[in-house]
Amino acid sequence: MTSEMKLADLANQPRPPVPWEEGDNIPWHEPEFSERMLREHLNQSHDAASRRSIKIEEHVSWIHQGLLLKHPTRILDIGCGPGLYTSRLSKLGHECVGIDYSPASIAYARNQAQEEKLPCKYLLDDVRSVDYGTDFGLVMMIFGEFNSFSSTNAKTILKKAYRALHESGILLLEPHTFDGVRDTGKPGDSTWYWTRKGLFSNRPHIYLKEKFWDADRRTSTTRYFIIDTATSDMLKYAQSAQAYTNEEYRSLVTEIGFKDIHLYPSLTGKEDESQKGLLALTAQK
Ligand SMILES: C[S@@+](CC[C@H](N)C(=O)[O-])C[C@H]1O[C@@H](n2cnc3c(N)ncnc32)[C@H](O)[C@@H]1O
Repeated sequence: MTSEMKLADLANQPRPPVPWEEGDNIPWHEPEFSERMLREHLNQSHDAASRRSIKIEEHVSWIHQGLLLKHPTRILDIGCGPGLYTSRLSKLGHECVGIDYSPASIAYARNQAQEEKLPCKYLLDDVRSVDYGTDFGLVMMIFGEFNSFSSTNAKTILKKAYRALHESGILLLEPHTFDGVRDTGKPGDSTWYWTRKGLFSNRPHIYLKEKFWDADRRTSTTRYFIIDTATSDMLKYAQSAQAYTNEEYRSLVTEIGFKDIHLYPSLTGKEDESQKGLLALTAQK
């Protein structure tokens, strides 16, 4: 959700915000934003949006060998972005479906699949409502996106993932650790700057970022105010994340019906200092 505001409204914001009430997420699904975000997904100088290729290859190798024991299967990637995991997994013999509501990411993924003749299909849709299909050997949702959904939506996604798996299919989640979510809401990381153009706008603007940790709800919320310096028009976006302890992750997936749950320190199955704040969870249908 985007809301148009006046400068005076800045003072009247509830602090802390009610999570998810001021906005669902950053505008991944808006065409122009998604074009700008795609550049960040593909940028090899940082690990925002998607990680660098070298790290993705380590993850893909663990998924293929460590988790799937090199047996070709059908894989569903929920929130697949530009298909950086699905395209690689398909080259290892898996048939992949990716779902994402970012138009630029899905266009990029489809184009790659077409150019390289990969067995990948991509759906431009919202993972909370779209039909996932059935008969997958692996359903994955990675890079912390799970926490960006309210607990109600997170449960809906897990139920849909459960239904999409064949008997004994595997769920792979890479959510944030409890501390990882708490750290994304450090008020001390609130910041601002002026820029000629950036992720949120192609026009000169002031970018204000305000962060909160709500200890009672155990949520972090980040608000972004984007102020166009030529027109003074102001947009607000908000993004929240739910924190769970490791035990809560176990109970959550058990409640849905999954069994044989394993937690790993990273998506390589091993400790990875560069991925602190995330963990990997696998479970079987
Ligand atoms: C942090 S990115 C990760 C992309 C990819 N999994 C990766 O690691 O390269 C999160 C992705 O989730 C997608 N996403 C977030 N909420 C979504 C929703 N409700 N429906 C579909 N896609 C969503 C975004 O568009 C974005 O591509």
